[in-house]
Amino acid sequence: LATVEIPLGGIEVGQRVTVMWRGRPVFVDRRTEAQIDAAVADDDADLIDPQSDADRVQNPEWLIVVGVCTHLGCIPLGQKDSDPRGNWGGWYCPCHGSQYDTSGRVRRGPAPKNLVVPPYELMDGEKVIIG
Ligand code: FES
Repeated sequence: LATVEIPLGGIEVGQRVTVMWRGRPVFVDRRTEAQIDAAVADDDADLIDPQSDADRVQNPEWLIVVGVCTHLGCIPLGQKDSDPRGNWGGWYCPCHGSQYDTSGRVRRGPAPKNLVVPPYELMDGEKVIIG
């Protein structure tokens, strides 16, 4: 399918879900205030792939990124509360140890780039159409 529609109503604050889009996982993360604050606070940090949090979201509460490590394409851990999430609380790639923050920005390599934000449309917090 070129696009996929995800209802958002059942996703709680702090919950992360994985959906498939064009054969790849997409992480839908309903961020907590603390996660949003951490992401924004690091806008001016020494980032590997500098980008502000605001440039990566349409609504701060919803972070939507392709769940594929930008190093060699493993699927980072962090979708479950019990997963390792790395030092920045986002995602941790088990293949070579890259770490991503709560904006999906790479904070420790070898990954060279932030997790990719796919094209999407957020409809009033009720659903998201990816693609
Ligand atoms: Fe993720 Fe290498 S594939 S760190």
